[in-house]
Amino acid sequence: MNFYPIKIKALEWINGRVRWINTKLLPEVEVYEESSDYERIAKAIEDMEIRGAPAIGVAAALAVAATVYNTSSDSVEEVKSLARRAIERLRKTRPTAYNLFWALNQIEEAVNKQYSTVEELRKAVVDKALEIYRLDIEINTRIGEYGEKLIDDGDVILTHCNAGALATVALGTALAVIRIAWYKGKKIKVIATETRPVLQGARLTVWELKKEGIPVTLITDNMVGYVMYKKLVNKVIVGADRVLLDGHVINKIGTYTIAIAAKRHGVPFYVAAPTSTIDPYTPVEKVVIEERSLDEVRKVLNKILITVEDVEVYNPAFDITPPDLVNAIITEKGVIEPPYTINIKKALGLS
Ligand code: MRU
Repeated sequence: MNFYPIKIKALEWINGRVRWINTKLLPEVEVYEESSDYERIAKAIEDMEIRGAPAIGVAAALAVAATVYNTSSDSVEEVKSLARRAIERLRKTRPTAYNLFWALNQIEEAVNKQYSTVEELRKAVVDKALEIYRLDIEINTRIGEYGEKLIDDGDVILTHCNAGALATVALGTALAVIRIAWYKGKKIKVIATETRPVLQGARLTVWELKKEGIPVTLITDNMVGYVMYKKLVNKVIVGADRVLLDGHVINKIGTYTIAIAAKRHGVPFYVAAPTSTIDPYTPVEKVVIEERSLDEVRKVLNKILITVEDVEVYNPAFDITPPDLVNAIITEKGVIEPPYTINIKKALGLS
């Protein structure tokens, strides 16, 4: 595995405190927030200061670690119940991103072991959270290295939302593929969809790619069909919030529409996601799709009202792309192709 420069540090652990870039304020201002309070970090996740499936999972793990790290209690049972309260609170922040539950389950397992001192418990929880943190960088590097092999020199790649460094600890998932293809000298270009209503594409993906010097063109979401019709796109790469065993992909609202257009125009549609995004337990009809504040749709960036104040609104934050529209899933364990149930089981070591 090669090492690539880490130019954006969306999340950090600094002496028992969690530091994050407030993605809500980008690209206008680059503000870093810091806290060791799990309630503050839970609110930052709910309010999307921290967002993107892998980043949410890592931030939640670090939040529990910070809680345990900073307590002055010397009772193992007391610290365990404090950690469990933090875990329960963080579990309720956002329902769709599987990485949140993946990370918190591992932290919970560490909490539930036997310890004779608070010091032992503290070390185990902090070590586990930092392992999850470091693993994210390694995993994204591997996703990028497997994925870049699918990219040809001169490709124009369409991506949706932000599956970049700002959605992970570093590099991103879909954007790791794009970054590493670029670092390897492939002359690629990116088309970023603005991603209504929260505008992660316009605000975050464009900001990240500009920092890298990777050519990027911004379009509104409703231009996707036309740019494909005009043959302006060679490949689509998106991230995922949850991938099911049978290959259903749950990702930012609008992903499904892009996948349909890609199929119609013969454009390969790839999903880049770590195996920690794969939920082998939940059938598609049981997946909870988060519905967010109605004002996200009524207003632009919660500021400018663009409709009638009390209009009825539907605001699902994610959609579901069926497996037949997905050409492959790029993971840190390799590129998984259909038939998904068999091949995902193999990748997860479940068969
Ligand atoms: O609502 P968000 O901004 O948290 O949604 C993020 C996405 O949908 C991303 O595409 C997904 O989490 C993958 S991030 C590597």
